[in-house]
Amino acid sequence: MAPSLRFLLLLPATFFFMQTLAEAATCSDCFIQSQAAYYPNSDEYGTDTGRCGYGSFGATLNGGDVAAVSALYRDGVGCGSSGNTDFILSRRAFSRMGQTTDAAASLLALGVVDIEYRRVSCSYPYKNITIKIDQNSNYPYYLAFVIWHQQGRRDITAVQLCETQNFACKLLDRSYGAVWTTTSPPSGPLSLRMLFSDENGDETWVVPVNNIPQDWKAGETYDTGVQVNS
Ligand SMILES: *[C@@H]1O[C@H](CO)[C@@H](O)[C@H](O)[C@H]1NC(C)=O
Repeated sequence: MAPSLRFLLLLPATFFFMQTLAEAATCSDCFIQSQAAYYPNSDEYGTDTGRCGYGSFGATLNGGDVAAVSALYRDGVGCGSSGNTDFILSRRAFSRMGQTTDAAASLLALGVVDIEYRRVSCSYPYKNITIKIDQNSNYPYYLAFVIWHQQGRRDITAVQLCETQNFACKLLDRSYGAVWTTTSPPSGPLSLRMLFSDENGDETWVVPVNNIPQDWKAGETYDTGVQVNS
């Protein structure tokens, strides 16, 4: 599941413009050629299972314009971005590439189309980064959570939980997708630290203002009180 995919079907004139851009030194904004198809029998919104760990929340992201990809998924690091291989879109997302109802019907009839894509910034207006404690968590022995609503176009490549009293920190494991886990988590209110990495290898730790409460519960969501814009 790769939420927040934005895809563009480009006219030839645009394509040549992008070719010029492609020759620039940095290619993080370049469009990459690929193909897209859709699940022929899918619900309009596609499936609510997915290796990113977003669950049914994932199918609603970006208004349902979501896609499954393989290569840029990068074992979960790419969750929230998009892929360099064929895209398998929800029927809804696929038809939204058409600018009119008729165009959408023609696209659906084609089944597979050539596309060009690039990673874009994710945007979650009026939302902070939110921690959703996984249902499989077992207080206080096992903690797993998903990180929701991460704006921008960086990757979260490490997550730590620190005790607020003595600042002992524990590095979490990426279990799969956007799901971070640890056995025997630190105790007390927990200060979260997320390492954001960009495509140039620059890394920044972001420390939310809100702690995860001491008595965290499976299934709960906690607002971190922070958001990022890059
Ligand atoms: C985001 O967090 C700030 C505190 O840092 C808070 O004032 C604000 O209400 C939060 N926004 C939302 C949409 O929850």
